[in-house]
Amino acid sequence: MTDTTLWVPVALSTSIEPGTSAGTSIDGAEYVVWRDDKGKAHVWEDRCPHRGMRLSFGFVRGDQIACLYHGWRYDNAGQCRLIPAHPDLDVPKTIKVPTFAVVEAAGLIWAAVSPDTDRTTMPDLPEDLLSVRSLYVDAPLALCRDRLAEVSPPDMEPAEVAELSPLCLQRTAAGSTLVIAFQPLNADRTALHILVSASADNQTRAQLATWATGLRFALENSYIRVA
Ligand code: FES
Repeated sequence: MTDTTLWVPVALSTSIEPGTSAGTSIDGAEYVVWRDDKGKAHVWEDRCPHRGMRLSFGFVRGDQIACLYHGWRYDNAGQCRLIPAHPDLDVPKTIKVPTFAVVEAAGLIWAAVSPDTDRTTMPDLPEDLLSVRSLYVDAPLALCRDRLAEVSPPDMEPAEVAELSPLCLQRTAAGSTLVIAFQPLNADRTALHILVSASADNQTRAQLATWATGLRFALENSYIRVA
């Protein structure tokens, strides 16, 4: 179980466009990440209160999200506002999806999914970061974090490594900054959200994306060897 006082990175900002949603998980619990038409990001429990359908399969309609199954609609505070089979019903206030605090910073969407989260401890990252990619690795958080503290892309050695939080590493070399934010999906699977300083050109970002693909295989092979 990840430290519940931490803000958890749940997606690269660029991966959730206005009007879209995606399912994700933290420590095995399911969440929907969605962005309304005004650009505000939301992180909710990924479960419709009606019959439990995943809201990440639903449709964003303006600043509301509609469930795929029977079309119940929820406003951006999680409150059910419309039950299509009973359009004139004054929907009870008790029909509500659990929602979580969200901060969007440094090219990432961060969520506070525990009441214990220390809202004052967001990692201190540069704001001008560009997305490289998210990687989904079949290996636990601790293994990924330990290995990433040791390895660098070929053009970023030697690097100065800073652990900005237990879920975020920053490597700085030759004026470039590489950030890796870790999302513990479950006990054996981790998402790595990778960003680089805005000075990186397209070729550098493409090289980093290729390096990251190889990194996934290396991390998974390490896990197979120790498991
Ligand atoms: S399960 Fe969502 S509206 Fe029925």
